[in-house]
Amino acid sequence: MEMDGARILVAGATGVIGGALAQECAQRGAAVAVAGRDPDRLAERSRALGDCPARGLEAYDLDRCLALAPWAAEQLGGLDAVIVAIGVVAFGPADQVSEEISEHLFAVNALAPMAVLRGALPLLARPGAIAAVTGVLVDRPQPGMAAYGASKAALSSWLTAVRTEQRRHGVAVVDARLPHLDTGFADRAVAGTPPGMPSPARLDEAVRGVADAVAAGAALVVPDGRGGVTVESRAH
Ligand SMILES: NC(=O)c1ccc[n+]([C@@H]2O[C@H](COP(=O)([O-])OP(=O)(O)OC[C@H]3O[C@@H](n4cnc5c(N)ncnc54)[C@H](OP(=O)(O)O)[C@@H]3O)[C@@H](O)[C@H]2O)c1
Repeated sequence: MEMDGARILVAGATGVIGGALAQECAQRGAAVAVAGRDPDRLAERSRALGDCPARGLEAYDLDRCLALAPWAAEQLGGLDAVIVAIGVVAFGPADQVSEEISEHLFAVNALAPMAVLRGALPLLARPGAIAAVTGVLVDRPQPGMAAYGASKAALSSWLTAVRTEQRRHGVAVVDARLPHLDTGFADRAVAGTPPGMPSPARLDEAVRGVADAVAAGAALVVPDGRGGVTVESRAH
């Protein structure tokens, strides 16, 4: 997919990674529409991107999540790609994480991204792409993050199945299994306190990796073990 001139929706553009992804896509010449929960940050992101189309997004409103891509397609005159970067984390041993917190993690990290991406499938231009930020935990589950890891694994599993379904329809499915990044995400945990985190990978490289993967119609973005990421065309 040619990024220059592409029409791209970024859901979760109010976050650090989502905001950087929206900016990266715009810098590569894409027309961007942004969605996010915090109204002030959403307005600021839109302003920073030349007053691009912006829409509020709450993960629990799955009907609105499903309707997001059709809205973006209308605003941008079509849609080539959707990138989802919403998420929350909670920490603590599994026997101390409440049902309410587990449900919250699955709502924000799995059900809402699935609804946003599902809403895009029937209307994406071809070749098109959908992408979501999952996490390195999909491949390496960690103690103290069982429910968070499980919610990301659920989304990753959905992406893997949809990749096969969509191959013949010309839609690429990108699973960005990013490593730990210094965005303050862990400090915004909805429960528990973060364990000692590994040294963060480079945010700008991770963001460029996701944008490269969307442009190339690749399958995975994974840590390269040297503080950056690598884009892989085949899933494992
Ligand atoms: N940072 C890391 O180390 C890391 C590593 C791997 C993967 N990830 C994943 O990357 C994604 C973005 O993380 P980040 O580091 O950029 O953190 P962030 O700045 O806290 O971004 C989180 C995003 O999720 C949105 N969000 C949270 N709860 C929501 C809800 N109920 N409804 C709608 N939107 C909601 C936030 O919206 P508002 O800001 O508008 O409330 C924000 O846009 C997450 O999915 C995270 O799991 C992060």
